[in-house]
Amino acid sequence: MLTNRQLFLLHLGQTSPAPLMLEIEKAEGIYLFGPNGEKYIDLISGVSVSNTGHRHPKVVKAVKDQVDSYLHLMVYGEMIQSPQVKYTERLASILPGSLGSCYFVNSGSEAIEGALKLAKRFTGRSKIIYFTNSYHGSTHAAMSIQGSEIYRNAFRPLLPDTGRSLSTILKHSILLMKGQPA
Ligand SMILES: Cc1ncc(COP(=O)(O)O)c(C=O)c1O
Repeated sequence: MLTNRQLFLLHLGQTSPAPLMLEIEKAEGIYLFGPNGEKYIDLISGVSVSNTGHRHPKVVKAVKDQVDSYLHLMVYGEMIQSPQVKYTERLASILPGSLGSCYFVNSGSEAIEGALKLAKRFTGRSKIIYFTNSYHGSTHAAMSIQGSEIYRNAFRPLLPDTGRSLSTILKHSILLMKGQPA
């Protein structure tokens, strides 16, 4: 029988040629634990998803309670789901008044896609500028506005009308401040 490590190498798409490859059996608070009791401090926290610490009792209870009612129905605004609408109310209460509506998606990349679409629709403009060394995710539009060539070169052509560098951003900002179209 193959080990988990062998299965990982055989069947899992890896994000880089040098994945961390820590085998984790349990996580608690800031710690990760390996199968032989190895203990690691987790400085990644599920890329901020587990930012209350692993298996926080309140989070575990909320998940268990929810599982007893229903699991996934739909992320988009179709059905009235109590946890979702209460979350929108909470978010709206801490955001500026004009930002009172939430569009839920499944990942950071999709949130970036939503932000790009919102900006294009609201401004009626298509040009998107981004910072050198920025990272916004792995979908096509998110990759189009990421600073590193290494990750996106194999996927061209990407989204048109995008531009990088601080000087581009400054030029556009100055034009906007002067009231001219950027
Ligand atoms: C700054 C930033 N933006 C966007 C993303 C993309 O998020 P996701 O991996 O959930 O698509 C990440 C993921 O690491 C990120 O760090």
